Amino acid sequence: MDEAIGRYPLEHKRSAALPLLHFWQEHFGFISDEGVKWIAAKLDLQPINILELVTFYPMFRQQSAGKTHIRVCRTLSCAMAGSYRVMENLRETIGLEPKIDNHRMHNLLSVNADGNYSIEFVECLASCGTAPVCMIGETLHENVDPNSVVDLISNPQSAIRNPQSPHPLEHRLIFKNIGCADWKTDIDTYIDNGGYEQLKKAVTMSRVDIVNELKTSGLRGRGGAGFPCGVKWSFIKPDEKKPIYLICNADESEPGTFKDRYIIHEDPHQLLEGILISCFALNARTAYIYIRGEFPEGAKILERAIEEARKHNFLGKNVLDSGFDVEVYIHRGAGAYICGEETGLIESLEGKRAYPRIKPPYFPAVLGLYMCPTIVNNVETLCHVKHIIAMGGAKYAQLGRPNNTGTRIVCVSGDVQGPGYFEIEVGAVTMGQLIYEMAGGLKPGRMLKAVIPGGSSAKVLRADERFKIKERQSDGSTIEREMSIDEIPMDFDSLTAAGSMAGSGGVIVLDDSRDMVWTLNNINEFYAHESCGQCTPCREGALWMKKITERMLNGGGVVEDPRTLKTIGDNIAGRTICAFGEACAWPTQSFVEKFPDEFASRAAKPVPPPLPPEYISDELTERETIPTTALAHDPGWEKAGSAGTI
Ligand SMILES: Cc1cc2nc3c(=O)[nH]c(=O)nc-3n(C[C@H](O)[C@H](O)[C@H](O)COP(=O)(O)O)c2cc1C
Ligand code: SF4
Ligand code: FES
Repeated sequence: MDEAIGRYPLEHKRSAALPLLHFWQEHFGFISDEGVKWIAAKLDLQPINILELVTFYPMFRQQSAGKTHIRVCRTLSCAMAGSYRVMENLRETIGLEPKIDNHRMHNLLSVNADGNYSIEFVECLASCGTAPVCMIGETLHENVDPNSVVDLISNPQSAIRNPQSPHPLEHRLIFKNIGCADWKTDIDTYIDNGGYEQLKKAVTMSRVDIVNELKTSGLRGRGGAGFPCGVKWSFIKPDEKKPIYLICNADESEPGTFKDRYIIHEDPHQLLEGILISCFALNARTAYIYIRGEFPEGAKILERAIEEARKHNFLGKNVLDSGFDVEVYIHRGAGAYICGEETGLIESLEGKRAYPRIKPPYFPAVLGLYMCPTIVNNVETLCHVKHIIAMGGAKYAQLGRPNNTGTRIVCVSGDVQGPGYFEIEVGAVTMGQLIYEMAGGLKPGRMLKAVIPGGSSAKVLRADERFKIKERQSDGSTIEREMSIDEIPMDFDSLTAAGSMAGSGGVIVLDDSRDMVWTLNNINEFYAHESCGQCTPCREGALWMKKITERMLNGGGVVEDPRTLKTIGDNIAGRTICAFGEACAWPTQSFVEKFPDEFASRAAKPVPPPLPPEYISDELTERETIPTTALAHDPGWEKAGSAGTI
């Protein structure tokens, strides 16, 4: 425990709260009142400071789990592949009653009678390409057959790995070693294959030169927003007096995205080398890798990699005799999608609830971790740094397209025959090539209905839409072309021009068997569960949207519902502290706009008057006819009249 506390500055030992909670839970099975008080005393905090973490982070429990704890992913790609059936069959096999929560949140812990098993639904485990997945204890199980869960329970060691050899349309830099049978994660294998040569080169370069190479490369962040990396780095003042921090964002939790986990598991030294070069360039003497709690194996792999690198003097004191000292620490999250948002992540790293901060003034590069300048970059982004040093910024910029340079990993899941990860030159592959050539096309007899191109937050694209896309030429001029979904180049600018975004590179494919109300409801459940709750429009709106789509799905849709859904979305986007607001509003806004007939067909009942509190949505679902005039006993109705909406 003291070693964990020592990873943070003395005056910020509160940061050790999450690590200590993990220790406690691993040892005692759950966080008791005694645990809360003990950890608070250890960190000179009040018990409430610890209790608020236990209730915020989904991975912490206040009651015992079973001897074997199972987490089943219920998010979109897994749900499409049958994860609800996996849950049902597991429950039956283990002998568990489904637990119903009045608030209809899904992740209640159920423990069976003999205490041997417990089970809960969780959100995307960053393995959507091998859906459906679940975790048994700390082990991830991929491609679970819903009808063979008995085998899963009786042989829990048999986690399947899915090595994937490169497709001819791929251009592998970052994923060069991923999925290779003869590749090992130890440092000797890495060094034998040219590893850490770029760190050796970087420490002989000036910091300004490295930042300039980054700027020349045109590298845009791979975490979601696509912000130019070199520009972000140049916000750090060369004569900065405060400590500078680098944070590697390894929270990978955007549904549909599953690339960072592979890098961490299969090529940890590539990431570490990227981090160390970046630390040198930024003059950051401490880096934290914030890794999501659901990657326990990844955290161990990285810890091991750090110790190996230390033995070779790649980190620690006086790195490679350059006079530069640097430490890299692993910090595990504990569930909660919002920890991926960079300021929420920083709050979490400071040992608090992951409440995003308002920007401005809290831009991390200015007021970040411990109010010091901080650069937050995604795992994949940091790996690119190593290759930019190897190739030089100008050569790297020749990969891809103008303003969309380099390679990126695109993750394909959903209704395709060969889901998986593909590293492409940005924009060199079209959506059609990605789906039909690389990901094996649709299932026999099926037609493409829609694509969510950049993680579940991205606006959905309809298969039969026409898109007007401006293509930037190398001489700086632009040409506008009208194109089908199949022709859209997989790059940042084209997907933005198509009205969506490249986001985190998670492409979810939907075929014509999919019910769009069901699909949106699954997405809405994710956001309703994951809102941090600070902003009223997001906290309430995300839940309302989910309740409405769920009611529509259950036969209680009223004619006003599509408009109400849109209005709620419109009133969230742009009115919140962080971009989660847009992330939760965009799916609803775009699904309702692009599939009006499907939503209308689920919204046939007449609009009731403003609902009295006791008139819950179940009644809307169960009753064939809905009264459209106010009942006399409800004072709210008299005030509102009968023209109101739900
Ligand atoms: C709701 C939300 C969730 C996010 N989740 C992640 C995530 O899981 N991983 C990630 O790298 N970035 C995530 N981001 C983006 C980060 O805030 C940040 O922009 C990114 O880590 C910066 O790194 P990059 O410039 O290398 O992309 C998220 C953003 C939002 C608004
Ligand atoms: S938008 Fe949502 S997730 Fe972001 S701070 Fe507000 S409530 Fe939290
Ligand atoms: S791992 Fe289940 S949806 Fe991503």
